[in-house]
Amino acid sequence: MMHDDHDTKNYIKTATSIIPYGKHYVDEDDIAAVANTLRYGNLTQGPKIPEFEEQVAAYVGAKYAVVVSSATAGLHLSYIALGVQAGDAVLTSPITFVSTANAAHYCGGRAVFADIDRSTLNLDPGEVTKTLADHPDIKIEAPDLFPGSTAGIAEISAVARSAEKYVVEDAAHALGATYPSGAKVPSCGHSDSTGFSLHPVKSIAAGEGGIITTNDDAIYKSLLRLRSHGINKLDDEYINTHLAFTGDETNPWYYEMASIGYHYRNTDIQISLAQSQLKKLEQFLEHRRNIIRRYEAELAPLEHIAAAQATNHQQSANHLYPVAIDFEGLGTTRLTFMNNLKKAGILTQVHYIPVHLHPFYAAQGWQADMFPQSMGYYNTALSLPLYYGLTDDDFDFVISCLKRTLKPSGLSN
Ligand SMILES: Cc1ncc(COP(=O)(O)O)c(C=O)c1O
Repeated sequence: MMHDDHDTKNYIKTATSIIPYGKHYVDEDDIAAVANTLRYGNLTQGPKIPEFEEQVAAYVGAKYAVVVSSATAGLHLSYIALGVQAGDAVLTSPITFVSTANAAHYCGGRAVFADIDRSTLNLDPGEVTKTLADHPDIKIEAPDLFPGSTAGIAEISAVARSAEKYVVEDAAHALGATYPSGAKVPSCGHSDSTGFSLHPVKSIAAGEGGIITTNDDAIYKSLLRLRSHGINKLDDEYINTHLAFTGDETNPWYYEMASIGYHYRNTDIQISLAQSQLKKLEQFLEHRRNIIRRYEAELAPLEHIAAAQATNHQQSANHLYPVAIDFEGLGTTRLTFMNNLKKAGILTQVHYIPVHLHPFYAAQGWQADMFPQSMGYYNTALSLPLYYGLTDDDFDFVISCLKRTLKPSGLSN
């Protein structure tokens, strides 16, 4: 069992002296949970999936939760369940991972972008209003809760809903965050469905995995069918009754596929890990909040560096800590800055390369200067280390290296 304080005794080290920007945390309870499934349980299609779905739904306050193989798969299925097809568009932010946009293209539709608000780093509601008016083919608004923050989400969602669009929140980063109302993400108060990721650097880890939550019965049923080949194992009427029944009795071997689906299931092995991790989520979130508080205090007096996201850290799941650095003012480049930290064993990253810059999207006519706020953020962005296993010593080391790097006679000399 973990202690209330930040106990690193059980921490299974995955690197020796390197401090990455993000990392999972696995303890002996997690290992025992997975071993238990390997010894006694089903490897897949066993009881762990529905058990975990019920636990997640209860934790966030949503009616339904559906486990899938990744958050990307979850976005794809949510878009299909809401009817996205050729001729339809999904509106999202350039400051997200490519999945949010790509899933629209999987459906034969396309992604459309609107600019961000520089203080929230989420979609700008005013830009959303303009983009909805310019692109009547938009069927879904898919805001990214970046990087775990609900800042502006209620407004962004209200704009879409008043234009009669669906809302699918990409909450890949945001399990455990809260909306200003106090409700948990992803309880779907602002969306038709919400998805989050169980990738190792996210709030909790499964290896790979995703969860979609919804309060809508029809969406829930579609998601269940879609994640398992389109096969009907629900209470729907069978179409081929002559194959389904012998007299009045249902044939036990019978299953039916009336619409196309995918194989996007997850395994009991991975979900055993996620189940065990869920018990530690509040502790994980609290530690991340504490690190953010310390970053804020340490960085405040420094020049040329500031938190990239102005507010909402106490409600955010704080998946990342992006800072805005004036590289030009420092007389350096981002490459030199990152490399100097790397030489000291500190790995930073940039989240994200604005999606519209990728060649696939540029080829569709999206140009860099269409989204000046996203580009302004991107040009200064750097994500600093933030994860549960980051110790006080690690943190102090990061700060001391940053302070040296931020001086003209910094680490490079
Ligand atoms: C904002 C965002 N959306 C979606 C995804 C996709 O998550 P997954 O790797 O579980 O498919 C990620 C993963 O990094 C992400 O950061």
